[in-house]
Amino acid sequence: MMKVVDSISRMSTLVKMLKKEGKSVGLVPTMGYLHEGHLSLVRTAKKHTDVAVISIFVNPAQFGPGEDFDKYPRDFKRDEELARSAGADILFYPSVKDMYPKGYSTYVNVEALTDTLCGVSRPGHFRGVTTVVAKLFGIVKPDVAYFGQKDAQQAIVIKKMAEDLNMGIEVKALPTVREQDGLAMSSRNVYLSNGERQDAMSLSQALARAEALVKQGERDPGKLIKAMEEIIQKKPSARIDYVSIVDTTGLKPMDKITGEILVALAVFIGKTRLIDNVIIKVDSKDDKSKFAKKGAQ
Ligand code: PAJ
Repeated sequence: MMKVVDSISRMSTLVKMLKKEGKSVGLVPTMGYLHEGHLSLVRTAKKHTDVAVISIFVNPAQFGPGEDFDKYPRDFKRDEELARSAGADILFYPSVKDMYPKGYSTYVNVEALTDTLCGVSRPGHFRGVTTVVAKLFGIVKPDVAYFGQKDAQQAIVIKKMAEDLNMGIEVKALPTVREQDGLAMSSRNVYLSNGERQDAMSLSQALARAEALVKQGERDPGKLIKAMEEIIQKKPSARIDYVSIVDTTGLKPMDKITGEILVALAVFIGKTRLIDNVIIKVDSKDDKSKFAKKGAQ
């Protein structure tokens, strides 16, 4: 039976009991309006730890002025059913007042990694994310916390926070779950009109194109970015925020494709800002065989 816990103090008491019993705890932090991406994280948590906790909290601290905090989709009853069906043991559902009482004044900020990609167009966003995740870690005290590769920068930033602050929590990033046509699942997809939904396919199509080009031997990030931009710009409702190729540790732009690269993009489809990414591993042996092939032709 899944327990629904809506206060921090009750959650803390429950966690104390579980720890006493020697149970391992897995945490999946979410903002709700659950979809298969969230549920895949819950299933993995359930598989690897004794107690799978999912939190649902639409965190005001990570939304900028003019962003969609007020109209962010919420449907608690539906979420409760989905969390239960995915095998969650505890659904933690705190209120804004409980999480940020009057006079709240402590924030966690991971430097450098948050200055690029989404950090540029959403100033303060990651500060809100790391603050709420640090709080959730403090309340739930998980052994392992599960995040989605869909928000690649977020997962990297949270890993860094847990490491730098010696939180003793293992942070895992799991693969992006997609719709049949490739669109990465997101609670925000509900904002899209039919036409926009069509245009939104260009994000994953652009990433697939980049993957194909790298496979064919393309090693110039500029050319890859241009090819991706061309695919997205064809869509009438699309406006590019960024298309970037960075290394997966420092998130710094690369001038040649080698090793492990993160191809990440953010695109406004109408008023909805969508993100997607893919990690490509380039083997140096591959490079040689490509060149050898070219030479032989
Ligand atoms: P939210 O957007 O609800 O996402 C919760 C978790 O689900 C994140 O780790 C996210 O990366 C993951 N996720 C979302 N879509 C996914 C998909 N298509 N495939 C796999 N995983 C997916 O991210 C947040 O909430 C918040 O910033 C949060 C971390 C909860 C802090 O408030």
